[in-house]
Amino acid sequence: MASDPDEGFTVVLTGRSLTAMTTTATIGPTTGITSLPFEPYRDRPDDELRQRILAVKEELSDALLILGHHYQQDEVIQFADMRGDSYKLSQLAAQSQTCRSIVFCGVHFMAETADVLSRDEVAVYLPDLAAGCSMADMADLESVEAAWQDLSDLVDTKDITPVTYINSSADLKAFCGRHGGIVCTSSNARAVLEWAFARRSRVLFFPDQHLGRNTARTMNVPLEQMPVWDPRRPLGGNTADSLRSSRVILWRGHCSVHQRFRPEHVAQFRQRFPASRILVHPECTMKVVEAADLVGSTEFIIKTVQQAPAGSVWGIGTELHLVNRLAHEHPDQTIQFLSPMVCMCATMYRIDLPHLAWCLENLARNTPVNRIRVDSETAHWSRVALQRMLEVN
Ligand code: 13P
Ligand code: SF4
Repeated sequence: MASDPDEGFTVVLTGRSLTAMTTTATIGPTTGITSLPFEPYRDRPDDELRQRILAVKEELSDALLILGHHYQQDEVIQFADMRGDSYKLSQLAAQSQTCRSIVFCGVHFMAETADVLSRDEVAVYLPDLAAGCSMADMADLESVEAAWQDLSDLVDTKDITPVTYINSSADLKAFCGRHGGIVCTSSNARAVLEWAFARRSRVLFFPDQHLGRNTARTMNVPLEQMPVWDPRRPLGGNTADSLRSSRVILWRGHCSVHQRFRPEHVAQFRQRFPASRILVHPECTMKVVEAADLVGSTEFIIKTVQQAPAGSVWGIGTELHLVNRLAHEHPDQTIQFLSPMVCMCATMYRIDLPHLAWCLENLARNTPVNRIRVDSETAHWSRVALQRMLEVN
């Protein structure tokens, strides 16, 4: 299959991450429940829940670290001790010194990564186990191993570096660790690809085709040498020749949120605001990235706006909650959502005040719920791939 930048497929969020094979979730030992009880959470006023959250934070003090991703809603992110993009949050988990528990306000793969990178005595919790990532669910170990096997019939797999975007399950990170591969995030994908090409001549990049393509394009890899691997088709839908001449084999996955931004949104925005600059996340399609002025991770987007002079006009192509927060925090600039449609990460949004209060209060009562635990073998090999990434940076 030729590399078609805009091609994607519709995905229904299955929430498979809830049952990711590599992770076990602990249910409440006294209550025996896995999901939020109605009483005394769902029906409680926000003010009361805020007070209860603050009370647990005070009680657990340094033993508790709440990490929050930038896409979290305001009512939740305000309780994060530290916030960041996926890369920064991995570093924070790896560097955490005093805490015994990390409550992760983000999605499942982030909590898994925190479990892998934090000290052995730290337990990681995800307030709602249904907070998965539809992109991470587009690649699974079985399909990647099958692709690897198919590729081994055509090329020397010792000359392929598997690179997984951090938005993936721990067993795929472990696959990369075992095969001399590495993890990347949206803020270091270029450095990681350089690392990979310094060692081997080919890369298998999963699960986000757009991040892989957008990054490899900055390194002048031609599109013809970036076939897309569709796991549902023989040879991923490619000819043997196109795979033999490939340099980056892109998994057919995408972010359902970022793929909604279209190049015509950029054109329309520029027409409305001729002095504007367009700032997008690299999970957007290649055409959107090419039409934009600046591209980078959520942390990059935030820093760019923070450093911009008053009067700047931005069209921003990333998740809605972050764009709205930036607009609120920088009233001296014009900050607008790039798309006329709502592009919101519904799974990030699952972390809300009731779930956070439930998770924290059970932790304080010593009846923890929703622990995310990666088994030791998977954790070992995924740590290998994650450490390679942290060293690259
Ligand atoms: P970053 O936090 O690395 O920018 O990635 C965004 C994202 O999609 C997280 O799921
Ligand atoms: Fe996954 Fe996209 Fe949501 Fe990020 S924004 S967590 S990639 S679905």
